[in-house]
Amino acid sequence: MSTSTKPKPITIFDTTLRDGEQSPGCSMNLNEKIEIAHALVDLGVDVIEAGFPITSVGDFEAVREISATAKGATICGLARCRNQDIDRAWEALQNGDNVRIHVFLATSAIHREFKLRMDKEEIIRRAVEGVKRARNLCDNIEFSPEDASRTEVDFLCKVVEAAIEAGATTINIPDTVGYATPDQFGKTIKSLVNRVPNIDKAVISVHCHNDLGLAVANSLSAVENGAGQIECTVNGIGERAGNCSLEEVVMALRTRADVYHAATRINTPRLVPTSRLVSNITSMQVQRNKAIVGRNAFAHEAGIHQDGVLKERTTYEIMRPEDVGFSQTDLVLGKHSGRAALMDRARTLGYHLDEEQLKQVFDDFKKLADKKKEVYDGDIAALIEQRHTQIADQWQFVSYNIEATSGQSPSASLTLARGDEQFTVTQTCGDGPLDALFHAIEEITGQTVVVRDFRVQSASRGKDAQGESIVEVEHNGRVYRGRGVSTDTVEAGTRAFLNAINRIEIDS
Ligand code: KIV
Ligand code: ZN
Repeated sequence: MSTSTKPKPITIFDTTLRDGEQSPGCSMNLNEKIEIAHALVDLGVDVIEAGFPITSVGDFEAVREISATAKGATICGLARCRNQDIDRAWEALQNGDNVRIHVFLATSAIHREFKLRMDKEEIIRRAVEGVKRARNLCDNIEFSPEDASRTEVDFLCKVVEAAIEAGATTINIPDTVGYATPDQFGKTIKSLVNRVPNIDKAVISVHCHNDLGLAVANSLSAVENGAGQIECTVNGIGERAGNCSLEEVVMALRTRADVYHAATRINTPRLVPTSRLVSNITSMQVQRNKAIVGRNAFAHEAGIHQDGVLKERTTYEIMRPEDVGFSQTDLVLGKHSGRAALMDRARTLGYHLDEEQLKQVFDDFKKLADKKKEVYDGDIAALIEQRHTQIADQWQFVSYNIEATSGQSPSASLTLARGDEQFTVTQTCGDGPLDALFHAIEEITGQTVVVRDFRVQSASRGKDAQGESIVEVEHNGRVYRGRGVSTDTVEAGTRAFLNAINRIEIDS
């Protein structure tokens, strides 16, 4: 009998770019997706689900570009069990050297009856056909019986057995609607381990949604019962209440290795920078008290706690802040700092800039350093983000002019550019300067939206900090977020609104 205590390796499958992008308002452009993919490689994730190629040109391009360029992780594309989906996924993946096709088909009675209108035999037949088609194209195939946690266990075992027989190398068990509880979900995994005769030919994976706040607990229970892969997202973003949070599940496995006897390859000091990168790109703020990466995750407020930590850290801290990437220093750059220093800070913050991008960001940095003496990490991230969100053929902010007196309608004149052409309008309506500028943007671009949220906060510290604005708008029933940064808060708000409009245009 083996007495080895070697921890079981757990594959971390990140779906921030696919399921995460399905969070309302979280759609990303190609540059942003590539930036996140690089950061995920640095973080040490094993598999990156880069998109669902059949659904849009944007998803297709993202999967193609990321699979061809991101080295160090397996790149995966999602497909339904349909020929066109699978072929399109393969078309996007085929130039990569380490790729996976992920096919899925719902199996629960509710989905069979109301969504698919298929009986059990047909579900098995389609699953097998889909997996076989994918396996003819690629050796690495994942199959997901969607809504597995609400599927009859006997039937689930049959589908899983048939999918493995057809060539699936990973079987993913989704808790699609976040309905499972840890004990029940663990038992489902155990049933598969005990009852599916060919289960040893595949890795069992889990994909838990967080509708009841149990996604991390369910994933951990699955690991205790035989799962070898966890699907998760940075900051837990995803459909509805989101997915299992990568940073939480990874740190739970690591901190409680005594319980789980499992280990991941995650480079944990990259957790906070990656979380910030995803939060900046998606404009989805991380709640302050979020475990692991929230600003307050290591802040001790009560005097008794502070006293305890000063005497012996472990009295109130179960993890070290530096182990998850909270750096003690927010290095300050200034106008004498060179390109190398900027490049170094950008890398630490999780950004990979090519020569051209570095040149542009360095120019922006010099302008900013002239306006403000000290440039912090938050400022640098904001400058880079500003560049990422700009796409050549989209609307660009040029300038504005406002005449405003309290109690009277302002007069706002705005100039935008598209390609080489410039467009200027003057608006004399609106409740205030920003409202007038938003109307001016609508007039120039021809897009009309409903503003659902508008925020301005500082991107770093100090009175001269850049203002970072986030605008959430609704257009044709969909939510879009935009982000803008400037030392002038009116300009920041205007840029944020324009960024949301540009995101709408990408989608149309
Ligand atoms: O939640 C889900 O079931 C999914 C599948 C496509 C894996 O996202
Ligand atoms: Zn999902």
